[in-house]
Amino acid sequence: MKDKIAKVVTHLAEILQPGIEFKLQYLSSKLGVSKEIIRKGVDQMRANGINVVADMSTESVQLVKSSPSEKDVKPLSPVFGSRKRILLMSDAFLGSKLQQNSLVHAVIKHAEGLGVDFAIFLGNMIAGKPTSKTKQHYFLTDTEEQIQYARDNFPVSKKFKIYVINGPSDISSGKNVAEEIATGRDDLVARKDLFSEFDINGVKVIAAHSKKSGPGAYTLSYPVENLAASQIGVSEWRHTGRQNFQIMIVGGHFVGMHQPPQKEGGYHMISVPGLYNPSDMMDGEKKIGSPMVGFVVMDLIFDEKGKFVKPIVTCYNLSGYTIEKDYLEEAPKRQPSAEGEPSEDQKKVLDCLLSNSASTGALSRLIGKDKTYVEETISGLQKLGFELIRDEAKRAWKIVRDRRVEFKPINIPWTEIQANYVEYLLYGDTQIGSDNDRPKLIPKIYKLALLRKVQKILHAGDVTDGKDIYAGHSEHLVACGADNQKERMKKILVPIYKKHPEMPNTEVISGNHDMCRAYAGAGHDVVEAICDGVNALVGRKVLIYLGHDRGDSNCGRQPNKIKVRLLHPDGGIPMGRSYRLQETIRKLILVLVEEGDDIHSLAIGHLHVALFMLNNGIAGFMVPGMQGETDYLIRKALTPQIGCWVVRVCLDGVGDVISVTPEYFDEKELESM
Ligand SMILES: [Fe+2]
Repeated sequence: MKDKIAKVVTHLAEILQPGIEFKLQYLSSKLGVSKEIIRKGVDQMRANGINVVADMSTESVQLVKSSPSEKDVKPLSPVFGSRKRILLMSDAFLGSKLQQNSLVHAVIKHAEGLGVDFAIFLGNMIAGKPTSKTKQHYFLTDTEEQIQYARDNFPVSKKFKIYVINGPSDISSGKNVAEEIATGRDDLVARKDLFSEFDINGVKVIAAHSKKSGPGAYTLSYPVENLAASQIGVSEWRHTGRQNFQIMIVGGHFVGMHQPPQKEGGYHMISVPGLYNPSDMMDGEKKIGSPMVGFVVMDLIFDEKGKFVKPIVTCYNLSGYTIEKDYLEEAPKRQPSAEGEPSEDQKKVLDCLLSNSASTGALSRLIGKDKTYVEETISGLQKLGFELIRDEAKRAWKIVRDRRVEFKPINIPWTEIQANYVEYLLYGDTQIGSDNDRPKLIPKIYKLALLRKVQKILHAGDVTDGKDIYAGHSEHLVACGADNQKERMKKILVPIYKKHPEMPNTEVISGNHDMCRAYAGAGHDVVEAICDGVNALVGRKVLIYLGHDRGDSNCGRQPNKIKVRLLHPDGGIPMGRSYRLQETIRKLILVLVEEGDDIHSLAIGHLHVALFMLNNGIAGFMVPGMQGETDYLIRKALTPQIGCWVVRVCLDGVGDVISVTPEYFDEKELESM
């Protein structure tokens, strides 16, 4: 192993060039070794004093400068050694006709390629006890059979361990399901019911499953917020002044979500989608929109001294890759002794019945012949050894398929998806002119944009703090009036764009503060004026005005183009933080379907709150502000979040958002840049 790493170090020293990013995948295939060996090689180079830095979200490395002379060698701490990558899964619901075990196999295989250190399964590995209402969705109703089925068919990873928590459906059987499944499986480790604590390099992570099985929460973030709040333990918090965990991960809500801490030192909340498709079982609970099928990969990032910085979450949406009747073989059942090939019309009938049952009339329309011909075709197929049965209750024909005995990972074009990405930076509510604005922090945002090579910078409105927004507002302004606020913003942005011709453009909408009566009422659009002013002074179009309250930005280059909608709504924050975002996504979907339009990402300003949610195939964001606590916010009992999002969206060939990596930078991290 040591020789292998030494060889890789020699090769890497020849390949890496200062300032050029190299993907681990590229280096791995070029040198013919695993990505893990490349990571070890990079850490070895750093131990030798060579400054190679890594970008975890893009899985790439870069040489900062050429090798130091021998006398200057100072060992640098490892970058990869200080990273922990964890796969998060939930709700496989094995034993249910809605299970997606082929998809679970694809997830495990992909995670092995990503080099995850271990996995946490958050609960509901089996479907558990059915009710009289849900029984129709089960092919195994007996818990013992479900446990045996999971032991035999849940994918095995040779590369990492999977810690399994019992969810409500596991518990419904009265057995310790995780414990029983893990018996005889080296890769599985049973944990407690509903709730388990992990200490990962000193980071306390609580992994839990919602008590209610399946989706149904009205506000998707609320149960997670509630669980986290109940874990803080008010009395402990009073004594120690801090909560006793850094990350809360919850499964069972069929949504991918990340809520960064509201204050420095606070906790992250992460919601993990499920791995079966519960739509058919939801009945009256469809108001929350389609439940999401997918998983999460969480990177815990530590600084050079080993201190925990933050989690970076990559949320995968595989809703488009689910299959019907995963529990059955794809081919129809046929008598082993049967001979002869079906005719073209017989094949059409077989294909149709494999996807769904059909009446004689429907089949007659399908092959364009009368009903007598259809009946002859069916009896012909039966003579060929296929089991076609008549369901008299539904007056339809069904075809018999055997239960699947071997699961293979569904073919997902990961390489194509990973190469098909768009990156942008989201910030907003700069409230320029407020006595609590952050003029020194804005240049850091732009520094970050250059460092991360994003393709576009987007501002979600309230560029300025406006005038006379509330009684006594003028007492809280350091720059009062449109002219002073314009000047203040120009002084920040013009030098940045003049100094950096490579800086990506900023696209911006105006918000309620920009469109206040004092400005808009007098026919003045302050944001448009800022854009014109900055562009004139820089000498090129760098600030692009998309309109007030709403604007669509085309991000990325063909063929990887996505549309990001910026929105600056009205009103305050409801009790559950995600409510505004998920409701906006839901309404947006209805309009998009009607208009035949497509939006891949939605970014909402105004609320000064940071939240990411992958819902209905849309990467939704609540964009934090760039303004500290004000009297107004105190009166509204709001804690403003200051920071920005750097977003990476990966799409598949049909333009579906497959993965989103939203990296949050809070005020402290931005300041340190
Ligand atoms: Fe605002």
